[in-house]
Amino acid sequence: MKCLGIETSCDETSLAILEGKTCLHEALHTQIPAHAVFGGVVPEIASREHLRLLDALAREVDEDLLHSIDLIAVTRGPGLLGALLVGIAYAKALALSLDVPIIGVHHLHAHLLACELTGEDIVYPAIGLLVSGGHTHIYLMRSAIDFTVLGKTLDDAAGEAFDKVAKLLNLPYPGGKYIDILAADGNILKNTLPRPYIHNDNCDFSFSGLKTAVAQFVQTHNIQPLPYDAFDPATVPNSIKDVCATLNTTIAETLCIKTARAIQAHPEVRSFCVAGGVAANAQVRAHCARLAHTHGLKFFVPSQSYCGDNGAMVAYTGTQVARYGYTSALDFEAIPRGRHVPADYIVNHFFKE
Ligand code: KG4
Ligand code: ZN
Repeated sequence: MKCLGIETSCDETSLAILEGKTCLHEALHTQIPAHAVFGGVVPEIASREHLRLLDALAREVDEDLLHSIDLIAVTRGPGLLGALLVGIAYAKALALSLDVPIIGVHHLHAHLLACELTGEDIVYPAIGLLVSGGHTHIYLMRSAIDFTVLGKTLDDAAGEAFDKVAKLLNLPYPGGKYIDILAADGNILKNTLPRPYIHNDNCDFSFSGLKTAVAQFVQTHNIQPLPYDAFDPATVPNSIKDVCATLNTTIAETLCIKTARAIQAHPEVRSFCVAGGVAANAQVRAHCARLAHTHGLKFFVPSQSYCGDNGAMVAYTGTQVARYGYTSALDFEAIPRGRHVPADYIVNHFFKE
């Protein structure tokens, strides 16, 4: 089964064609330079950029390959509404013209299923930790189409915490990656940043206070933000590298404390998956691998290139849903961030295995 996946939920325009786990075509255009000047994603610019880029990317696909696809998958949410609508409208039109079924894919589930693109299949049931720029969710994954939320952030996502601290320090946008780079040369300052919202018995997160804690620390210790125009890791003072190393570890530890609770509450789980943009972080990867090992779980994390948004994870998720005997009706809706993604697949036994 060849599935074309389209991803336009935020600031990456991407499409990919997969046959099983084999990638036959892949294209990704990041909009980061268009948003960097504003220090964050501007939704209207994102929609316009997807509109400008998506058709151009689709036209790069070999004509014969495009006409050989069996199925189209597209991210339906959660994400930026205007951005999602561009991808969904394009995918629906393409599905009609190629006369193939369509599947509206859950963006966060797709991130987690990208763990399988490295090779091995996830062993279910699994605990899934999804850490991205807009979401921080802990899931109980019973299968590729059965996800239950066990915990989530009550305010900022982990990626948002990275990005807000990066902004405070005048690091380039989006800052998570740069904090990670600088952290590699920094020392962890013990007992400086609190691991937020851990003194309770739930699996939820609250990262909004971390930025304030860093701002207070920076002010108290008279640490100056970097000059705006010149980011060169070699010239960044050690005091900033230490803040980055401390933030990295604080976030990684917090994620693992809550995930450990979810694992303990579900002794039936056999593996632990971590995915999303923040799963590219060195400390997050290392802490999560250790957590899995401690609990005797198989550990899954996507390759660095499949941690961020990409069309391959969407195509792969579409393939999984189709194998369970489902596709979407042509009138499925886009779901913005904060709204529940409905389980409204329709039965379609054509691809069922
Ligand atoms: O999953 P993603 O690409 O987009 C969303 O769906 O949100 O995640 C983007 C987030 C951004 O907040 C970015 O700063 C963060 O992932 N990120 C990182 C790293 N690479 C990307 N955060 C920490 N360390 C990294 N290496
Ligand atoms: Zn994402």
